[in-house]
Formats: sequence, C-alpha cells, structure tokens
Amino acid sequence: MRTPARPPRRHGVLRRKVSLQLRPSVRGLAPYSAPEEGREGKLRLDFNENTIGCSPAVLRAMRRITREQLTLYPEYQASLRRLARTFGVRPEEMLLTNGVDDALRLLMETFVEPGSSVLVPEPTFSMYRFFAEAAGARVEAVRYDDGMRFPLEAALKALRSAPRIFFIANPNNPTGTLLGHDALTRILDAAPRTLVLIDEAYFEFAGVTALPWIRKRANLVVSRTFSKAAGLAALRLGALFAQAGLADAMRRAFTPYPVNSAALVAAEAAMADGKFLHDYVRQVKKSRELLARGLEGLGAQVFPSGGNFVLADFGSGGGRLVRRLAKRGILLRDRAADFGRDGFVRITAGTPAQTRTLLRAIEEEW
Ligand SMILES: Cc1ncc(COP(=O)(O)O)c(C=O)c1O
Repeated sequence: MRTPARPPRRHGVLRRKVSLQLRPSVRGLAPYSAPEEGREGKLRLDFNENTIGCSPAVLRAMRRITREQLTLYPEYQASLRRLARTFGVRPEEMLLTNGVDDALRLLMETFVEPGSSVLVPEPTFSMYRFFAEAAGARVEAVRYDDGMRFPLEAALKALRSAPRIFFIANPNNPTGTLLGHDALTRILDAAPRTLVLIDEAYFEFAGVTALPWIRKRANLVVSRTFSKAAGLAALRLGALFAQAGLADAMRRAFTPYPVNSAALVAAEAAMADGKFLHDYVRQVKKSRELLARGLEGLGAQVFPSGGNFVLADFGSGGGRLVRRLAKRGILLRDRAADFGRDGFVRITAGTPAQTRTLLRAIEEEW
C-alpha cells in the first residue's frame, strides 16, 4: 500500500489549500489605525484622554486585588449595583461594556442587519460608521455646517425614513458641538421607529445629559465612558443606559464577560473619589477657555466646545504644525481628513499649565 504524500510543512503548520469567504461588509473595511505607540511621558493632547492620570485611589484599590479574584470569571452584580447607584439608575437599566466601542458593536448586533440604514451626523466619532459598515448597514450622513453647528433640520428630515439607529455624540467629537435639551427633545420626538444613541463620552465637561430621560423614552440609549474624565482608557470600560426592557433586549446579544474584574475595581475607586474627578474637570474647563482664547489670539479659528478638547482651524499649515509639535513631544490630532482640507486640528485641554506650555510651543512653531 502506498503512503499518501505528506503535505509540505512550514513552521510546524500543515499547509493545505483553503478558500475562506469574508463577509462582503468586511472586505471593504480599512482596519482602525490605532495611535502611534510610545506616547507615554509626552504631552498627550491627541486622544482626549485624561492628561494627569487617574485618581491615585484607583491604583491603591487595584493593588488590593487578590490572586483568587484574578482566577474567577468576573462577577458583576455587586459592582453593577454600586455603579448604577452613582449614575442614579437601577442596575437593570445599565449594561457594562468593554468601552463605548463594545457598546456600539452591541447596538449593531441588536438592531442592525445587512442593508439596514443608520444615520450619522458627520464629522463625528469614526467608530459609528466603522461598526455600521462592518454590520453591512447603509450609512446616511448629515453634515455639521462650517460653523460646526448640528444639522438639526436635515437630521429631522432623515429620521422620516426610519433609520434603525441615529448616533449622536453630545458633545460631538471632533467639533465640540453641544446640543441642548430642546434639540434633543425634537430629535427623540421625531424618531418613533429609530433607536437614538446619545453618546455622552464627554458628559463631565459639558454637564448636559439625557440620562434621566431613559425612563420616559423607549427609543433612547445613553452611553458613558470611563476613558476620558476618569482616566481609565487602558482598562476599557463603558456603560449603556436604557429602559429595563430595552436593556434586556440588548443583553440577549451580549457576550457573557465583556468587562474584566480589574476594570470594575478601578471604576468603583474612580467614582468614589469624587473630589479628584471634580477638581480635574474644573481644571479642564478653565483650560478649555484659556486654550480657545490663546488660539484665537494667535490667529486660529476656534469652535465652541463642550468637551475636553477644542477644534481649531489653522488654515494651511495645520498638518505641518502637528508634525513640528510632535517632534517636541507635544501630540495633537490632525483632523484635516474630516474636512477635506489642511488646517483642522483637535487639541485636548489638559491642565492650565499644560495648555500654557502648548500655547508657547504653537507660538514658536506656527
Ligand atoms: C464620542 C466618543 N465616544 C466614545 C469614545 C470611545 O470611548 P471608549 O474608550 O469607552 O471606547 C470616544 C473616544 O474618543 C469618543 O470620542
């Protein structure tokens, strides 16, 4: 009997001819380009993170994590109860997610199928479009105007065709635009067949929230993150809030352990240190003002912002400025691609001292 010829081996892996089918919606996707590495120690004004580090209470709490705790699959209920209380909601109205990114994927898996349409005001947080396209949805976009004002009339009109989801970042990244209660009410009233996500990733810096409305609005989901004001971006923790029935529907599509135990320990410690959070937010708001006035003084156009960042138009030369500052260890985010021309730069507001350092550097380099 003849022994069959062995397939060639390479690095210990059997190589056979395979033919794999990618989902059509994934074929055209470009992978997310993560920030350059090696940002630690630099003046990080490019990703709207907390610029001074999280509360020291977070590290103390994490050092108390036991080896046994790390061997257990995460247990969520007690943490969820305590965290829900700090947000003023019931545990059944809250879902913990692996960052808001994971929350967006969950929304897609719950409400969107190939061919569904979703509505996005652009420019905005790029992950709305990314996850929608990955899910095979058609993305309908309405544009912020040249003054970075929200396209309310266009959005209300687009809602008539009942997209599955309408994504609103409030305040919006990168424009900084903040919608008040009147505009949000008009949107929710005009969306009886659309789930409206109000993404409040920057809530702490704006103070406007739709969170209490989840009880009376069956088409509303609010998201928050621990990545920004709380300074826990590395731990990946976000939350979705909705009426209990809607939250239950989303739980059906959820993975069993989306969040790790260490993130929960950190989040609880961060929320318990209200003073640290409050002081940091106060500094950022002061700094945002300083930054806007300083940039205007240097001749840049600045748009009103409710976030921990400011969008500025430096005219041509914005990209060059970003590159020059990067050489000095100051990182900003070039947003030219959002607007189709050079000049637009998004700058995180850190502490007033950090902002003064930045303004001096811009004066020298621009
Ligand atoms: C509007 C908005 N939502 C969500 C996020 C990301 O949140 P997370 O780190 O929880 O995924 C960002 C980050 O830049 C953002 O700008």
